[in-house]
Amino acid sequence: MNKHFTSSIAFVLFAVLTASPSLRAGGIVPLGSLDLSKIKQGWGAPKIDKSVMDGPLTIGGKTFACGVGTHAESRLYIKLDGGSSRFTAKIGVDDNRKDFPASVEFRVYADGRMLYKSGPMKPGDEAKAVDVDLRGAKNMLLFVGSAGNGVDHDHADWADAQFTVAGAKPQAVAPPAEVLILTPQPSPQPRINSPAVYGCRPGNPFIYRIPTSGKRPMTFAADNLPAGLNLDAKNGIITGVNPPRGEYVVTFRAANDLGSCEKKFKIVSGDRLALTPPMGWNDWYGYFDGVTDRLMREAADKLVESGLADAGYQYVGIDDCWMNAPADSQHVKDPLRRGPLRDADGNIMPNKHFPDMKALTDYIHAHGLKAAIYTSPGPMTCAGYGGSYQHEERDARQFADWGFDLLKYDWCHYSKIAKSETDLDELKKPYILMGNILKKQKRDIVFNICQYGMGNVWEWGAEVGGHSWRTSGDLIHEPERFIDIAIKNAAIAKYNGPGGWNDPDFFLHMGIKEEPGLFTPNEQYTLVSLWSLLAVPLVYGDGLHKIDDFLLSVLCNSEVIEIDQDPLGKCARTVLLGEEAVLFVKDMEDGSKAVGLCNRGEMEIEIAAKWSDLGLAGKQRVRDLWRQKDLGEFSDSFTAKVGRHGTFLIRLWPVK
Ligand code: GAL
Repeated sequence: MNKHFTSSIAFVLFAVLTASPSLRAGGIVPLGSLDLSKIKQGWGAPKIDKSVMDGPLTIGGKTFACGVGTHAESRLYIKLDGGSSRFTAKIGVDDNRKDFPASVEFRVYADGRMLYKSGPMKPGDEAKAVDVDLRGAKNMLLFVGSAGNGVDHDHADWADAQFTVAGAKPQAVAPPAEVLILTPQPSPQPRINSPAVYGCRPGNPFIYRIPTSGKRPMTFAADNLPAGLNLDAKNGIITGVNPPRGEYVVTFRAANDLGSCEKKFKIVSGDRLALTPPMGWNDWYGYFDGVTDRLMREAADKLVESGLADAGYQYVGIDDCWMNAPADSQHVKDPLRRGPLRDADGNIMPNKHFPDMKALTDYIHAHGLKAAIYTSPGPMTCAGYGGSYQHEERDARQFADWGFDLLKYDWCHYSKIAKSETDLDELKKPYILMGNILKKQKRDIVFNICQYGMGNVWEWGAEVGGHSWRTSGDLIHEPERFIDIAIKNAAIAKYNGPGGWNDPDFFLHMGIKEEPGLFTPNEQYTLVSLWSLLAVPLVYGDGLHKIDDFLLSVLCNSEVIEIDQDPLGKCARTVLLGEEAVLFVKDMEDGSKAVGLCNRGEMEIEIAAKWSDLGLAGKQRVRDLWRQKDLGEFSDSFTAKVGRHGTFLIRLWPVK
């Protein structure tokens, strides 16, 4: 047969096979022929027959002619409609990452069940063979996740990947839409959202805005307010001087034309601050090195206007970049942010975007809110601005004089001063120094230790004067790990409690206004549910212009915040139910339990919370906290369907 003739036959056969559905039976459909624009992946774009870097597909020294190169986290949802009988592939990390610390896991799901899991794979590992039976399956997910060390360098290959097709052709589809839980809007009737307890130090300035949702105008009253404190009845802001050492039970009252309410608030004047986890806003993930006095003032306005302050968000925090960077800084481009680090007397110099720090905190305090500031124990901050090294005493006094109420103290360039980053004494040293200095200030300054968890900081954070301590790196670098981070925080539950809190970092990139965000709606509910169950600081750390109704409903659900702010201050423990379902169980002061039924998996599953796992017995009244709805009484378990990375959050009270 001549060559021309053979290729013509091949062409005709190809044309017939692709045109006629009936003739497709038993055909092979390569993964690369699907619409790969539907793949969502952590970096770059999916490549047909190539690695994500555009090179050949090579795994463990072997090159493959066809397949798909992607990057973790990678998800491709495929509609099968019962048409495919088999999926096969050779998988692994692409050899182009040979000298990098990549580590991935491949998974194949069909109709909600995990059919294949590779286990961790590293560069250089020989390709593993995937061969799954898809008969009858309606839909499928090809997933590549990080195997525990973040997604950096995770170049993943689905080589020789193909479907054996007997009916409908597989079709790449968009990820399934997530149902938005419509949390009820806060009622127009007054509701006081303050925690039940508040710590302060005798004789220091007192500033507190009674967080209250409901229609304005509203009038406020407070029974048994200790002498020295004054309430503005129109806006609910209390100012004055912290009372002498002791406990004072005040009753707050709020009323508008639709109703009234009251709530007890115990002021504990003594040595301890932050008796419930601090709540607030911080600029870092929203503005980075673009923060200005104007943006901080706008944030204070926005916190009040949006209702965040009414829900309990209190601290308005400036992060890095408010001070000068060295005049010759190569890396800070904005000339208004460069200049002398200190004045002739050694005082730290704010940069030109912050003309008057005292006026700024006055502005924040006039809203009844508190002001937070940032520096580093090192000579420089993380972003290369002036730090506090060898000026600790002077800077702390300055922060107090300016009127700041919280200090975030970020290790960073202290690494150049410390003799070691593993020696406990070296790790503690700068925090002991600043912790002691802060206690001497004539202002209550909450101390946030930020050194990413080194030396198990949770074991000694409170002892060095910290009120909270970051337990991990920045969430922006590992958003895909947030459920694992929560599980890790639950494992150190015993170090968490009134006056000293674990801190798994700020909330960021939320809402549904800007697509694609870092977190899907399910993940946003999970983030706030888990942080509340863990009883850790709730700080929204992104631009306030990104706020939308959805985000407000996620951040401001008073029944969820109540879980976080419970005066017992207990962190949830976890119950792992197999690979995907995990329960977070938190004891509440009133004897009830808050429980998160969390799905770490990639597809919707059913999760059962059994009383035996929760430490409960007998009938329980169950309430759905996101929907703020009673679900009835249950005898020995509660079961719910939970979507990918979602959390069903309930509270259970024993039925008497
Ligand atoms: C990081 C810190 C972030 C942010 C940043 C500022 O070290 O973890 O939260 O403060 O520095 O440069």
